[in-house]
Amino acid sequence: MIFDRVKSLDAILATAEKKALHRSLGPIQLILFGVGCIIGTGIFVLTAVGAQKAGPGLMVSFLIAGGVCVVAALCYAEIASMLPVAGSAYTYTYTALGEMLAWTVGWALVLEYAVAASAVSVGWSGYFVGTLNELTGIQLPAFLAAGPAFLGGAPDGMVNLPAVVIALLITWLLMIGTAASARVNAVLVAIKIITLTVFLVLTLPAVEMQNFNPFLPAGVFGGFGSGVGVVGAAATIFFAYVGFDAVSTAAEETKNPQRNVPIGLIGSLLVCTLFYILVAAGAIGSIGGQPILGPDGIPFPAGSEQLARQCAMPEYSQMLVCSNEALAHVLRQIGFSGVGNLLGIAVFVSMPSVILILLFGQTRIFFVMSRDGLLPEGLSKVHPKWKTPYVVTAITGGVVAFAAAILPVGQLADIANAGTLYAFFMVGIVVMILRRTDPARHRTFRTPLLWFVGPATLLGCLFLFLNLPAAAMLVLPAWTAIGLAIYFLYSRNHSHVGRGLIEVHELDPDAPPQPVPPIRD
Ligand code: ALA
Repeated sequence: MIFDRVKSLDAILATAEKKALHRSLGPIQLILFGVGCIIGTGIFVLTAVGAQKAGPGLMVSFLIAGGVCVVAALCYAEIASMLPVAGSAYTYTYTALGEMLAWTVGWALVLEYAVAASAVSVGWSGYFVGTLNELTGIQLPAFLAAGPAFLGGAPDGMVNLPAVVIALLITWLLMIGTAASARVNAVLVAIKIITLTVFLVLTLPAVEMQNFNPFLPAGVFGGFGSGVGVVGAAATIFFAYVGFDAVSTAAEETKNPQRNVPIGLIGSLLVCTLFYILVAAGAIGSIGGQPILGPDGIPFPAGSEQLARQCAMPEYSQMLVCSNEALAHVLRQIGFSGVGNLLGIAVFVSMPSVILILLFGQTRIFFVMSRDGLLPEGLSKVHPKWKTPYVVTAITGGVVAFAAAILPVGQLADIANAGTLYAFFMVGIVVMILRRTDPARHRTFRTPLLWFVGPATLLGCLFLFLNLPAAAMLVLPAWTAIGLAIYFLYSRNHSHVGRGLIEVHELDPDAPPQPVPPIRD
């Protein structure tokens, strides 16, 4: 039962061939596209969370997480070049391992996309609240600026209103069919790169070596389930790299993909890794980045009520690990308040596009699952005028806004990472299986050294997963159990593959149109 109901690769590919895309992307465009999808809350906000877990050792954490992403990206690229269709890891698993596991992957991708969209909304909110206060003196009441203390928000927090507003606004824009143009995307990438470069130029000269001492205040391994130490921070900061899979899915539109896709993937990951390590060095080296330790000498868990209470005290409130707008805070601390505010504005402008891409990704996965009959078809209903799957978009946006209202960014990122790591793990398995079961099939891109890169992906994902905080680790099996209950109560009986309806919707004149992509030429 576990491996039955495999969806035929040929049926899926018939769709893709019919819709072959123009090959226009070169290596530099691919790298820029990747950097645009990757840079977001991870570096701008989670730097503070990472420092609370690892102190200056955070720089090594960025290296570890980046390394796991490079091998996972190479696996993603081969499979995306074989199956350039919507649905990503869910569709890939359907072809190799059958419906039930595909369902668990699709279900886990909710964590990758929807929960990540909540995390980025909360990250955006931190900058919005801080910059608004700096520029206008308006201070949002504490109960509207963060979630409740018992969930790790602020001592007087109740609901993170700006995060809710931005999540709902982006949902509405997606519902009415808004897409960022490729040109807008290029401008946003430029804003992010310029912002980080200016940050480096101003902070690196202010670095003082004693700020790196002790380098590993929480050690390398903080203990199973603790989520602290260098590897605990790596598991959290992995979030900063999520989004590179977008490059793999552009394989079909790439000139000379065998050469350019790996250049695009590894190039964008290297650019980001380099920036991230330098930014961490600039932030921690200039104002210090030691964690706040509990009575037992172990850092207070990031996003915990204890840490929120410590950070509310005047003697700790100016520490990097307490900031909700880490990079702007650093610039203000070293005397560049004006530039710090400009950085806040740059984040205000550029981060919503990350939310747009993530939310879009989520609705597309639900759309494909519902088209396969695994979710009620009403969900994939397309609006007659807007031509978007508005029902599923509205539901997803509501849930994203709810999570963003009450949970802190670090917790949300850890939960998103748990789902993402599961999906990457499955992609690593699928790519190796398909090499064995379907060796002759044309692959626009072949993963080099697959029998090293594939197992390295599995081990890397497992390693990071096992270093997440216990609560985030537990979310995955709990979420999967709920998913499997729905699968056996509903999806298995309604599945189109199970009912023998293997259709290729795009060839069907009555088929609903595909949702509008988030980035258009
Ligand atoms: N990598 C993206 C970010 O850091 C998801 O916001």
